[in-house]
Amino acid sequence: MSRTVVLVDAVRTPFGKSGSAFVNTRADDLLIRAMRGLIERNPNLPIDQIDDVAIAAATQTGDQGMNIGRSASLLAGLPNTVPGYSVDRWCAGALTAATTVAGQIAMGAIDLALAGGVEHMGNHPIGELMDPNPRFLAEKIVDPDAMAMGATAERLHDRFPSITKERADRYALNSQLKTAKAYEAGLIQRDLIPTAARSEELGWTIISVDEGPRPTTTMEGLAALKTPFRPGGRVTAGNASGINDGATIALLASEDKAKELGLPIKAKMVTFAFAGVEPEVMGYGPVPSTIKALAKAGLTIEDIGAFEVNEAFAVQVIAFLEHFGIADDDARVNPYGGAIAVGHPLASSGVRLMINLARTFETHPEVRYGITTMCIGLGMGGTVIWENPHFTGGKN
Ligand SMILES: CC(C)(COP(=O)(O)OP(=O)(O)OC[C@H]1O[C@@H](n2cnc3c(N)ncnc32)[C@H](O)[C@@H]1OP(=O)(O)O)[C@@H](O)C(=O)NCCC(=O)NCCS
Repeated sequence: MSRTVVLVDAVRTPFGKSGSAFVNTRADDLLIRAMRGLIERNPNLPIDQIDDVAIAAATQTGDQGMNIGRSASLLAGLPNTVPGYSVDRWCAGALTAATTVAGQIAMGAIDLALAGGVEHMGNHPIGELMDPNPRFLAEKIVDPDAMAMGATAERLHDRFPSITKERADRYALNSQLKTAKAYEAGLIQRDLIPTAARSEELGWTIISVDEGPRPTTTMEGLAALKTPFRPGGRVTAGNASGINDGATIALLASEDKAKELGLPIKAKMVTFAFAGVEPEVMGYGPVPSTIKALAKAGLTIEDIGAFEVNEAFAVQVIAFLEHFGIADDDARVNPYGGAIAVGHPLASSGVRLMINLARTFETHPEVRYGITTMCIGLGMGGTVIWENPHFTGGKN
């Protein structure tokens, strides 16, 4: 049995810079706010009919622990009859939460599910409580660079000398400018759930925009930044994603259930794939995962009219684009900018890509297929191929 899985809707909290906007906010409260926001803007959703809730976090302890899929559901006011579970595939956590519930829906086990992710990187720094097996390094199972994401990005620059620092900076600048333009036009705010936060100086405030974007970025400013991952390296705070706090949530359903309930359909899932690469060049992961997903779908890269590629690092997006013969500034890629500007609260980002892709589908009925793809620590990539429900014929 296989049924069509659709994305009904997806939202997120604004992404804060760790140590700033959400410094006094719990991770689970960010997630709960996103969940409430999604429920409130979908009045046709009977919450007692939600069959399952899958939530990702890269660190699953403290305010991201206690099986956050279940605990946040209870706190968000879902009936206690709605079950929930937790997922971890590091940066691709929310992407995996979505593909996992999609599998449940496709095989007919469930009809309606929430999938999302949260990462409060202020409360849970990358690698918190990790205890890597000494065999990793002693037996050279992975290169030491595989353990630090910034170092993997430097290794990708080594592997592809044509991807210079200047090129990575230009990509990063473009990401900032696209995000600034999208913000000016009010395009990003539409899917952000304003979230209360408390600061010592201001008391309670409402955060309604991302904190990361730097619209005044220039090439000169980027060129002057330090390269924290290697002396004389190429990866900087300007061409990398930052350290952020945020949460995302999506509602997925069988197409039949969505229609029965009168819920909107923003995208149809075609297929998905995950793939592995050498851990020390983890940023290359989206290349094999996309090749695999395209083959499964019986499509080629030319069939894809919209790309949402997570920008963990500029070099890693450019390596992906270069592989597929796509220009660094191709208008089909990340039209609202990406993680370099808005931030990358690890496990939450996969659904942010879906939010943007769904908006692109809405305004581009000539586009039939789009992808969301991201790289994943310890050398993996994940790709989901989506079909535009608004497609009216045209280019692809
Ligand atoms: C790169 C990284 C180490 C930088 O951390 P940081 O030093 O705390 O970053 P900051 O935001 O303070 O930026 C550092 C400096 O660059 C400057 N800067 C950042 N972006 C800039 C931009 N677009 N233009 C100009 N200056 C910029 C900041 O103003 C700051 O300057 P200062 O030192 O004079 O205050 C950190 O963001 C990081 O580790 N990113 C990768 C996260 C990651 O691995 N995610 C997982 C992916 S798989």
